[in-house]
Amino acid sequence: MMATARSPDDGRPLALDLLPDTAEVTPSGELRVGGVDLLEVARIVGTPCYVYDEATLWARCRATVQAWPGGAAYSSKAFSCVAMDRLAAGAGLRVDVASLGELQVALAAEVAPELIVCHGNNKSDAELQLALARGVGRIVVDSFDEIDRLERLVAAGPYSAPGVWLRVTPGVDPHTHRAVATGQLDSKFGLPVDGGLADAALDRLARSRRLRLVGLHTHIGSQVVELEPFRVAAQRVARVAVARRLAELCLGGGLGVASVTGELVPTLSDWAEAGERGCREAGLPHDIHPSAEFGRAVVARAGLTLYTVGTIKRLPHGRTFVSVDGGMGDNPRPALYGSRYEAFLPRDPLAPRGLPADVVGHHCESGDVLVRDGWLPRDTKVGDCLAVPVTGAYAHAMASTYNRVPRPPVVFLAEGRVRQVVRRETVEDILRLESDLQLARGARG
Ligand code: LLP
Repeated sequence: MMATARSPDDGRPLALDLLPDTAEVTPSGELRVGGVDLLEVARIVGTPCYVYDEATLWARCRATVQAWPGGAAYSSKAFSCVAMDRLAAGAGLRVDVASLGELQVALAAEVAPELIVCHGNNKSDAELQLALARGVGRIVVDSFDEIDRLERLVAAGPYSAPGVWLRVTPGVDPHTHRAVATGQLDSKFGLPVDGGLADAALDRLARSRRLRLVGLHTHIGSQVVELEPFRVAAQRVARVAVARRLAELCLGGGLGVASVTGELVPTLSDWAEAGERGCREAGLPHDIHPSAEFGRAVVARAGLTLYTVGTIKRLPHGRTFVSVDGGMGDNPRPALYGSRYEAFLPRDPLAPRGLPADVVGHHCESGDVLVRDGWLPRDTKVGDCLAVPVTGAYAHAMASTYNRVPRPPVVFLAEGRVRQVVRRETVEDILRLESDLQLARGARG
């Protein structure tokens, strides 16, 4: 994930495999996605905006369903909105949620509660109560405190025993950015398979009359591009499932995506095969198939972000800064993880990119970079619409209003139509939260 120096063969045109499935260059040389000219989208919706190709979203959901005979979920933290949760469920995926808010969005999307999987290392009473009241399919228990909390809530309410998975950590290093590695034994998530904690939790759950232990869950990390850690994790966790005669085993998500030219990543089926192999090596009965849950691999390449170039600054010592009307507020990933992206001009997507440039945002700090050491066409000018591909995962989801910049809208493109699914935030939205309300008096008040 760390930025690397430019290679000598840079300056080439954008690799079209970074774009959504329906991307096509029109006879006049512009880029169309979902049958819509991206410049037209920028004109109608304004910039910045997040654009998704609905056909790619659908195809990736279907590919995930097909690769995992044991079932698969869409991990909605990667891009949570009603339209996306509805699309994923419609394509046959369960929906995994990791907060009360994501749960409420999934319910607003009318995802059948039994298809919802609830995650989190510190779920609130409100979250668990809503999950119990609506009868979500699975609650992924993450700690002894959560077992206590859930048992108390089930005892207090008119709820039937929920189906739970215990989240365990297999002790593998997924070789990804430290911030998104979760399979190591000292993770804040789950309980380690070695050392007795997972066993103690499983004993407790097996004895519980209020909770129904049905399986195990593990997730080793995100933006993982090696199959081997995934296979080993599957094997270690499947061993526990075999010993405990548990019929359900979810291997999490984490499959990485390519966001710059030339990156190679495994396919969804490679990933599924590695998971299956690990399970068979552990002796999991052949009629039990592991399930999975993916965020990034489903939505990343379906999305791109459109911006407008506002200033171009050429410094005497070589660096050129191309500033756009968005930045770390709509995509904090380069600033947070050193994630790499590319940029291109939708008016000429096949143009050679001979201008070495950093694409930066309009926020008030130097870490506000979208593309470090990137390349753009030499004729890039102020007013151009600039696109950053592969921003469908964890960009909208992690957007902020830093510098009081309202968050961009989301549009879905399909068969020549532009459908706004999240409107642009406004400063009025932000100002609506301001208040001047006395809540309590101090003792001396
Ligand atoms: N399941 C669990 C339990 C997870 O914690 C995650 C991601 C996933 C599934 C989905 O992982 P995916 O297939 O999307 O890799 N904000 C970071 C990514 C954080 C991922 C957290 N958990 C980023 O922008 O790279």
